[in-house]
Amino acid sequence: MDFKVKIGSLTLKNPILLASGTVGYGNEIAEFIDLSKIGGIVTKSISLKPRKGNPPQRICETPSGMLNAIGLANVGVEIFLKEKIPFLKNLNTTIICNIAASTIEEYVECTKILNEEESIAAFEINVSCPNVKEGGLEFGNNLEAVGRITEKVKSVTNKPVIIKLSPNVSRISDFAKVVKDNGGDAVSAINTLVGTSFNIWTRKPKIKNITGGLSGPAIKPIALAKVLEISRNVDIPIIGIGGIMDWKDVVEFMIVGASAVQLGTVNFVNPYASIEILDGLKNYCEKMSIKKISDLTASYIL
Ligand SMILES: Cc1cc2nc3c(=O)[nH]c(=O)nc-3n(C[C@H](O)[C@H](O)[C@H](O)COP(=O)(O)O)c2cc1C
Repeated sequence: MDFKVKIGSLTLKNPILLASGTVGYGNEIAEFIDLSKIGGIVTKSISLKPRKGNPPQRICETPSGMLNAIGLANVGVEIFLKEKIPFLKNLNTTIICNIAASTIEEYVECTKILNEEESIAAFEINVSCPNVKEGGLEFGNNLEAVGRITEKVKSVTNKPVIIKLSPNVSRISDFAKVVKDNGGDAVSAINTLVGTSFNIWTRKPKIKNITGGLSGPAIKPIALAKVLEISRNVDIPIIGIGGIMDWKDVVEFMIVGASAVQLGTVNFVNPYASIEILDGLKNYCEKMSIKKISDLTASYIL
């Protein structure tokens, strides 16, 4: 059975990636699972300078999901290369480095520096974080900005560039098209949706930032619709993200157009999920006599 998938020029040993921000720099989840078995790991968003992120409370539970407003807390590019990469590069899995920034110049500078590190296979550019003042949705909501970021980042690297799209827009396929037109190799969809939650006794928001990003099973039908919309309108590889909890969800994302997927919130619920999902996918392919898992991509019948 062939589990390999291609995302532009990037080949993954299987379609299961761990989503940015949900497994940090890999070290904590490595205590539970053998990361060399999965397709790859997308690192927490890295910015040029270290970021403290938002004040707590930064996370709360909601029906079928969670809200988070971490605010892109991270160690910054210098410490990432010095202290986090040595561990990541020994894992024998594909490392995709996620980058966040407040200006286009900062995206470019960050990519330039990280591009020197051989063990980084590709970049995922986060233009869609709902929880930061500058550089988040402001970019993700603006077609021209997404186009310019794609073009400028591509001009400083030969590695594949994946743009992570926001669902908080009216037509996500327009954004995928702009990525393609400006030389982007793939898109990942979706980042979190804006949500909020209030304590009825104190009348205060449960998270200090007031709003946060909604993730988990609650967003899966929306994410599927966004992946399908992109798949029907733009010829570009798609990495599906949003509420995947088991292998059946992965199959569903691939059918609607995803070449690979990322697992986020499920890692907090069950850190073994990615390995269990791989086993489930193997059984499904055997049962369905599927020889190449990539044949599932965009195999929808409407
Ligand atoms: C606690 C938390 C932190 C996150 N941090 C980031 C981040 O730093 N960069 C990013 O691009 N996405 C981040 N995300 C979004 C996830 O990568 C993913 O797009 C989203 O959670 C939807 O997938 P899920 O429903 O499987 O969790 C974060 C999500 C969570 C729950």
